[in-house]
Amino acid sequence: MGRIRVLADQVANQIAAGEVVDRPASVVKELLENALDADASRIRVEVEAGGRKLIRIIDDGHGMNRDDALLAFERHATSKLRTADELLSIATLGFRGEALPSIASVARVTLETSTGEDTGGTRLEIAGGKIHHVDDAALPRGTTIAVADLFFNTPARRKFLRAESTELSHVTALVTHYALAHPEKHFELISATHTLISAPPVARMAERVYQILGKDTLAQLLPVAAETPLGHAGLPDPPPWKRDPDEPTRSPGTLRLTGFYSKPELQKLNRNSIYIFVNKRLIRDRLLMHAASEAYRNIIPPTSSPVILLFLEMPPEEVDVNVHPAKTEVRFRQQSVVHDFVRDSLRNALIKARPAAAFLTALETSPAASPSLLPPPISRLPGGAEGLPPEAVPDSGDGSSLSTEAEPFELTPRPIAPIPGKLPFVPQDPATQNLDHQLWGQAAAALLGPPSFPGHEDCSPSSGSTLSYDRGTVAETERVEAEQAASNLNHLGSLRPLGQLRESFILAAGDDGLWIIDQHVAHERVLFEKILRDRQVEHVQRQRLLMPLLVELKPWQMVVFAQIAGELERNGFEVEPFGPQTLAVKAAPVGLEGGSLERMLAEVIEQSSEVLDEPRQNEDLAALRTRIAASIACHSAIKVNTPLDPVRMEWLLLELARTEHPTSCPHGRPIALLYSWKDIQRAFHRI
Ligand SMILES: Nc1ncnc2c1ncn2[C@@H]1O[C@H](COP(=O)(O)OP(=O)(O)OP(=O)(O)O)[C@@H](O)[C@H]1O
Ligand SMILES: [Mg+2]
Repeated sequence: MGRIRVLADQVANQIAAGEVVDRPASVVKELLENALDADASRIRVEVEAGGRKLIRIIDDGHGMNRDDALLAFERHATSKLRTADELLSIATLGFRGEALPSIASVARVTLETSTGEDTGGTRLEIAGGKIHHVDDAALPRGTTIAVADLFFNTPARRKFLRAESTELSHVTALVTHYALAHPEKHFELISATHTLISAPPVARMAERVYQILGKDTLAQLLPVAAETPLGHAGLPDPPPWKRDPDEPTRSPGTLRLTGFYSKPELQKLNRNSIYIFVNKRLIRDRLLMHAASEAYRNIIPPTSSPVILLFLEMPPEEVDVNVHPAKTEVRFRQQSVVHDFVRDSLRNALIKARPAAAFLTALETSPAASPSLLPPPISRLPGGAEGLPPEAVPDSGDGSSLSTEAEPFELTPRPIAPIPGKLPFVPQDPATQNLDHQLWGQAAAALLGPPSFPGHEDCSPSSGSTLSYDRGTVAETERVEAEQAASNLNHLGSLRPLGQLRESFILAAGDDGLWIIDQHVAHERVLFEKILRDRQVEHVQRQRLLMPLLVELKPWQMVVFAQIAGELERNGFEVEPFGPQTLAVKAAPVGLEGGSLERMLAEVIEQSSEVLDEPRQNEDLAALRTRIAASIACHSAIKVNTPLDPVRMEWLLLELARTEHPTSCPHGRPIALLYSWKDIQRAFHRI
């Protein structure tokens, strides 16, 4: 007799469950996706003990008849896919027919479902993969699935579940994200008797952001919308002789993007606050993360990351969703088109909006207002694990725990003295960067975050721990949007300089309030963009030095210099070797001389060696170019403690207004802060 045997269904289902279901939040994800696929307009999620004891999801979708209800728990039973061809254009969130049998193999499941027709509904009980009862029942249209005692028959897996509060926070993060993606639907999340999320339908995405994430987060985000027709459908067209003349030509369709991006003043230390939905599916995608970071190149420091909420829509055949067991990764058929579209749309939106950093808002709310793009902490629920202090919650060891070690979070520049208390971040282990850890880990931290921060209480849309809708939402959202539009940097050119503060900051009056402009970084931005422009047309202004400047280098620095000599020459340098370890600088870009020139060269060589160490050649060159430009700009710009007469101040403001990114210097520091007229009036108690 041979050795190979086909596994029993129950064993096969448990193996599949290992991939599909690893914690309560993944059960919630599958059931939520099913409800959305069933066209539900109202979805209520109830959990007990963080979902370990019970998860119940109630929807008003199209429901199932009795036969379908029974079939739904068979492996590979799905109503969403029939042929292999359809796999190439999946428009639903589910398609494998694996979720329900997987869940039912490791929990006790009760399904109540009805199509709302005269035939009535069905009630079905199944535990550990075995059907125990099937009854007819009078039920309204829709489906309710209750999943109790998760992993009751797989103790090894149950052991890996974390504290109730951790699991609950993962569930909360998940419902939050799906609610953001579907503003037209009603979402509720209830834990025991507490309503954690209550989000009735709203007409606009901004209102949903306001409902779920609060006013302050909305105030720090700006909307983006763009679309582009695709050049061709799916993979590139084959050459004419390989084309099938009978195959109908498909229309290529459109790539659409909507969402929100953060003002440059809001910076994160990792990419955990970039949320990307593709055809309403929340995904983690390195390509798009990279595109988002690229959009902010030279606007925020390379070590920082923006906050982004992006919804991409494209024809389903443009994206392969069948590449990850939990369906959290996708592959685009036209990768570089999607990448460049996202990068350029965000970049253009940033150039257009030119958001000003609000002086007072930063002071009042910054670190507390949106430590992450997640609901405010729910730390004071009466009773239950939610009320536990962070140190009472055991570390999960998987990067998703409520570690008390806070990841540093600060705006640039830090506007106030450090705030006592722990910031709600989880240190990220790069080795464990997957969706679960990144998204859900943050939620864990956000939920039991700091006990209280100044200004935090009034940043949630309503009082208490419920993230609920309030009737003022529409007006309030519009007010926030109007304020955002008003305070942009287009007005810089028409400001009236009043003088300098300590010969370092220009004070200027405008219709919108009082501006404070950092003269050094302002000039740095002006020069930086000019250098990049001039370099492009090979027209950098250089000046001959009266005496060549001799620079001593170490042997490794000579090696780096040899690699960047061409780029330096294009930027206006004329440098020749002068002995084995000495360079003679004969000409340099206008504005650079003496000590500044020497420091600039040392800095560029140092930074270039870091860039050249990295493996990605193409990016290296672009990065190298901008670093050299940034370094020249920094060392030739007007310094602090330099008196400026009104003419020079006006000139600087005018030049700054003409730049593409007057928001921040190439290293990411803000250039201009606005103390708005409204804030001034408010501070003097006039409004
Ligand atoms: N809430 C629901 N309302 C109506 N029908 C549902 C619901 N949940 C599940 N179904 C039906 O049960 C089938 C099986 O669900 P299941 O989640 O196991 O697989 P799927 O959604 O088709 O694929 P995947 O495994 O990728 O989620 C679905 O195809 C759908 O027809
Ligand atoms: Mg499903």
